[in-house]
Amino acid sequence: MDIEPGEMTVGQLSERSGVAVSALHFYERQNLIVSRRTTGNQRRYKRDTLRRVAMIRIAQRVGIPLAEVAAVLELLPGNRTPTRQDWERISECWQAELDRRILQLEQLRDDFKDCVGCGCLSLDRCTLANPYDVLGAKGPGPQRLMDESGQPCHPGSCVAS
Ligand code: FES
Repeated sequence: MDIEPGEMTVGQLSERSGVAVSALHFYERQNLIVSRRTTGNQRRYKRDTLRRVAMIRIAQRVGIPLAEVAAVLELLPGNRTPTRQDWERISECWQAELDRRILQLEQLRDDFKDCVGCGCLSLDRCTLANPYDVLGAKGPGPQRLMDESGQPCHPGSCVAS
């Protein structure tokens, strides 16, 4: 078998990552992972591809578009195995975006127990928190979950409370 030390076949990569071969081929078409081709046109992956696949899977699970993941992974060096410092650098690069998503998930989990200021006036709390939908004058959407720029915010930091 034409395989260099530290390389994996697509089957080995699939088995160790738990990701179907078809999905790995898809990731490669999306430039999320790369392989070299043997003289027999078989794919060979460097072992550090496992780490990229792990990140892709977790990002997918929390709903991050693959285009965003690709943009981040592009920042890793392609000519050598990325170091911990390389990974730290890309983690910092999308920290703000991840923080924003975490906040939105927290809002989904915690804040829908109360009035969100969406204009529905369907809860008894709406009468107090958004009487006659006064928050609608601030703009569209759940105003109690947004800051002045229209971005999600923690209820404690909302202007409209
Ligand atoms: S929950 Fe919609 S306005 Fe209160």
